[in-house]
Amino acid sequence: EGGTMIYTLISPLDMHIHFREGAMLRAVAPLSARDFAGGVIMPNLVPPVDNLDRLVRYRAEIDTAIGGMGFTPYMTLFFRAYSEAELRAARPHIIGVKLYPAGVTTNSEAGVQSIRDAEPTLALMEDLGIPLLVHGETGGFVLDREREFLPIYAHLARRFPRLTIVMEHITTREAVALLDDSPNLYATITLHHLQITLDDVAGGLLQPHLFCKPIAKRPEDRAALLQAALTPHPKVMFGSDSAPHPVHAKEAAACAAGVFSAPVALPLLAEIFAQHDALDRLQTFVSDNAQRIYGVTPPFKRVVLRRESWCVPQRYGEVTPYYAGRTIEWRVVR
Ligand code: NCD
Ligand code: DOR
Ligand code: ZN
Ligand code: ZN
Repeated sequence: EGGTMIYTLISPLDMHIHFREGAMLRAVAPLSARDFAGGVIMPNLVPPVDNLDRLVRYRAEIDTAIGGMGFTPYMTLFFRAYSEAELRAARPHIIGVKLYPAGVTTNSEAGVQSIRDAEPTLALMEDLGIPLLVHGETGGFVLDREREFLPIYAHLARRFPRLTIVMEHITTREAVALLDDSPNLYATITLHHLQITLDDVAGGLLQPHLFCKPIAKRPEDRAALLQAALTPHPKVMFGSDSAPHPVHAKEAAACAAGVFSAPVALPLLAEIFAQHDALDRLQTFVSDNAQRIYGVTPPFKRVVLRRESWCVPQRYGEVTPYYAGRTIEWRVVR
């Protein structure tokens, strides 16, 4: 079989990444920085990145870990009730503010208790042109949490029509459909939600390394996400939600949520897009849409993908990657 053997991406972006801090940051950040030209860095550290001083120090730690690799970390603040002065001061340093409902995922205990209480800050963000990024899940039944949150997205989009709102890591066909109803709603889609359903997580032997929030859903949801990515829908961007946890926290009686996909993200995206004869559209999904939606211009970085199989390592440091021990048909040429 013939087909394209080489595909060149210009400045690929990962618009949702967990870099963590300290030793974990130093282990995982270079894996994103070698393949991508930039990415949105999540603020759910302990304690959260919820003031400019902490954000500037976190940014410096990232720069120390990956300086010179041609990767721009687009920083986010953890949502709380910020004053106008705080938001004005932070604006040059951030791409947006990330809202977590309290308690719905890793390190979100300090998240918002009530959307209504968040509205004064959202109004300021709208006026200042600061995007809102949201982990959109309720505290409901685990399979329904995202669907139950969709009316909140629709409400926020109507109430703050000039606020750019990004629905992070969408996992349902209803979330995809909502993009067409609300002009100022956008979304990121992960790699793993293009590939797995709840069956892969829990249908056979339990797979802790596929356990994440939001949990993978039904085949028809996966199909809608895949179609949105492959088209690609103009309002969707790639965001891996690569979320490393040490192996002891994943292979445990209380397994932490998160799929560590950074080192395999571009190769698997190439494989998926090639399988669907859509390689020529990967550039739009993995860079151009994000540049347009956020108005960012990442450093110029040519990343060449070649069809050549390789076996994914079992570990990167103390983290098990997505696709550990499996073969991927595409690789990044270094
Ligand atoms: C696969 C995966 O992880 O991507 N599922 C699994 O390993 N249980 C699904 C797939 O290959 O599409
Ligand atoms: O699975 C997840 N892991 N989902 C999130 O929203 C957070 C992330 C993490 O930080 O580990
Ligand atoms: Zn999240
Ligand atoms: Zn995340």
